[in-house]
Amino acid sequence: MPLKIVQYPDPILKKKSVPVQKVDKDTQKLIEDMFETMYAAPGVGLAAVQVGVLQRVLVIDVGRLEDGKRRPDPLAIINPVIVEREGKIEWEEGCLSLPEMVIPMERSKKIVVAGLDATGQPIKIAGEDLMSVAFQHEIDHLDGLLLVDRLSRLKRELYRKQLEKQGPEEPVEKGVGPVYLG
Ligand code: NI
Repeated sequence: MPLKIVQYPDPILKKKSVPVQKVDKDTQKLIEDMFETMYAAPGVGLAAVQVGVLQRVLVIDVGRLEDGKRRPDPLAIINPVIVEREGKIEWEEGCLSLPEMVIPMERSKKIVVAGLDATGQPIKIAGEDLMSVAFQHEIDHLDGLLLVDRLSRLKRELYRKQLEKQGPEEPVEKGVGPVYLG
């Protein structure tokens, strides 16, 4: 089931996610839901915190070329750690939690990430270019870092004001009088 993607400036996005102690059915269900959410968005990566779960879980699908066609290449990783880096690359990054924002970011061009797969087995994945960028973006989320944190304070304020100005999508109806609940 696709889940709601948490939007900036929700404070949960600033929190550090904790390692998964035991990979179980709940972890697998979370991963399944995260894939559906990511594909529905659509995006090429998603961190668990973006669906409100503070666990170190991420999904990525940058696709792969096969016979000149781009095919799906779903990848889930639990407790990811970058164990090798090489080179630099700049990419214009957007984020599903930051509407209408694209920032050129410098990242490592190649990385190797170690972690666990969806069955709890240790895995190591090498990524280059977009795959490497996606890993670094999503791992930043697990550490509570957002693209917007890379902006100057002034630009960040402007962005926040711009989001506030857009206001709610629908007019809010007012109730007729005070109501006392609970
Ligand atoms: Ni993001």
